[in-house]
Amino acid sequence: TMTYRIADILLDWYSREGRDLPWRRTRDPYRIWLSEVILQQTRVAQGTEYYLRFVGRFPDVRSLASASEDEVLKLWQGLGYYSRARNLHAAARQVVDDFGGRFPTTFAGVRSLRGVGDYTAAAVCSAAYSLPYAAVDGNVYRVLSRLFDIAEPIDTASGRRLFAELARSQLDERDPGRYNQAIMDFGALRCTPSPPRCGECPFGDRCLALAAGTVVSRPVKQGR
Ligand code: ADE
Repeated sequence: TMTYRIADILLDWYSREGRDLPWRRTRDPYRIWLSEVILQQTRVAQGTEYYLRFVGRFPDVRSLASASEDEVLKLWQGLGYYSRARNLHAAARQVVDDFGGRFPTTFAGVRSLRGVGDYTAAAVCSAAYSLPYAAVDGNVYRVLSRLFDIAEPIDTASGRRLFAELARSQLDERDPGRYNQAIMDFGALRCTPSPPRCGECPFGDRCLALAAGTVVSRPVKQGR
């Protein structure tokens, strides 16, 4: 009998229950990057509003780069964490100054932009270029720590390394961008902090934390 890979179960669930969001309908790296910066500390409902506003005013990276910082900050008003807006603007200028106005096409290039860390670089490179990078955010830590019943804390250097490797090993190489969006949505909508509806989970008895009764205590955080 046939056993489905985790990626297959996630992608099948996503095709039925995933969210149709505007940045998932484009392969434009600029727009995908913009969405990820906005969503870093913002909920999807509010983030969508701002994303559409920014794309309307700044349809490409050059238009954002040539705006004044003041205008960018005004458009950002209400989102908080204004260093994100300053980094956004600085990164757009970097694209113009260092990459001739063409958004970088490699992980290292994207990662070199102001305010872009491993997570954002992976999200952009997978969604825009189909490069095989796993985007590991809070949702992904939760989903993987439960499926594999991992007691290792997620907030230590060795824990982050372990989860990065595990995430990479589960990635669907045929469509990394879609896989990353799928596991993100699964964490946000189904495998929620507490209490998840495990009775209706598409993983059923493939979830080791469900079998062990540890779902609500995953992921483990060491704390300070
Ligand atoms: N939060 C951060 N990135 C996201 C994305 N691409 N889709 C939905 N929520 C997100």
